Amino acid sequence: MPFDLMLRDTRLPDGRTGVDIGIKGGSIAAVEPGLPAEGAGQVVDCAGALVSPPFVDAHFHMDATLSLGQPRLNISGTLLEGIALWGELKPHLTQEAVIERALRYCDLAVAQGIGAIRSHVDVCDDRLLAVEALLEVRRRVAPYLTLQLVAFPQDGLYRAPNAEANLLRALDMGVDVVGGIPHFERTMADGAASVRRLCEIAAARGLPVDLHCDETDDPLSRHIETLAAETHRLGLGGRVAGSHLTSMHSMDNYYVSKLIPLIAEAGVAAIANPLINIAIQGRHDTYPKRRGLTRVPELMAAGVTVGLGHDCVMDPWYSLGSADMLDVAHMAVHVAQMTGLEGMARCFDAVTVNAAAILGLEGYGLAPGCRADLVVLQAADPIEAIRLKATRLFVLRAGRVIARTPPRQTALSLPGRPASIAPEFTAAR
Ligand code: FE2
Repeated sequence: MPFDLMLRDTRLPDGRTGVDIGIKGGSIAAVEPGLPAEGAGQVVDCAGALVSPPFVDAHFHMDATLSLGQPRLNISGTLLEGIALWGELKPHLTQEAVIERALRYCDLAVAQGIGAIRSHVDVCDDRLLAVEALLEVRRRVAPYLTLQLVAFPQDGLYRAPNAEANLLRALDMGVDVVGGIPHFERTMADGAASVRRLCEIAAARGLPVDLHCDETDDPLSRHIETLAAETHRLGLGGRVAGSHLTSMHSMDNYYVSKLIPLIAEAGVAAIANPLINIAIQGRHDTYPKRRGLTRVPELMAAGVTVGLGHDCVMDPWYSLGSADMLDVAHMAVHVAQMTGLEGMARCFDAVTVNAAAILGLEGYGLAPGCRADLVVLQAADPIEAIRLKATRLFVLRAGRVIARTPPRQTALSLPGRPASIAPEFTAAR
């Protein structure tokens, strides 16, 4: 039976070359060299370019994205001013505006080869306006982008009035994941209590957990310890993630030597947000300034699933960003000093397979039977993709091309030299 679409002459992240990918009925039907092209509905010659399953953003805030400057800019650059600024904007949000910004961001994300996003949505507004808006966005983008929503009590489960009731209402409305922010509660005890309560809610409802956890430079912010213990106690392993975990950067090494095995034993995943962590952490330091990124290579070495998130794009916390998970991986390589070949490859995994595992995406991958959600990159391998933040030549969803970008190429006209093409963009090989 001929294929609906065939990607010819691809290179795979595991290093296999000259591989054809045959697609039928929205799924990958075959992955091997020399597949027959006769009768195929469409043949895309990849000329040795890298093909990967799509990028997955494990941590984002779609209710705030693209709101930069509303109502003003974050002057201090701190997390706390960002939260205050978001608080100023919240009363003025309209459902239409949230939907419009979110849909615009989803277009940008798809163009950049993102196939799934886990977005936190603030539930500390009694109107739950952003929840309703993003549920509508989730429904509208479903044919081309998987959107997973986390009920996020931005102002604290116990610190903000009605936060727990609102969170439960949001879950009743169909939000997918239980969120939290223990380090923002009034006391360490309240933070630990919020972790326990949120895990119990998730256990009772059979839902995943993803907490903003210890997003601080305070080495004594140890809510990840409680999160691991509660995950263990309630048997939630495999569906719990700690996002940020930046306090781990500043923790005492002896304590961490106990903590990381507890995280691994509990089956808690870690989500780092390198662009935001390097921009926001260390703001209370003079010099030397801490990086603030959690201990990514050490967590990975212990067997913890580590994914990366973009977190923010043009919002109260971050003025930059371009929905580019290769930009995120590029920053992780530098800040975590994962510059060896193995380390860079692991950072590519963190924005693809690891993040997909954290979201629990079904049918994600490159094997026959997986969903034909793919991205063709103008790069020879994952490391070159990170180095060049490679152009996404084709983005496929369920076997259909949904975005294409011309190859990047710079023509040189150098004095005394024949016209040529700038070398780093010459070819995939
Ligand atoms: Fe976040």
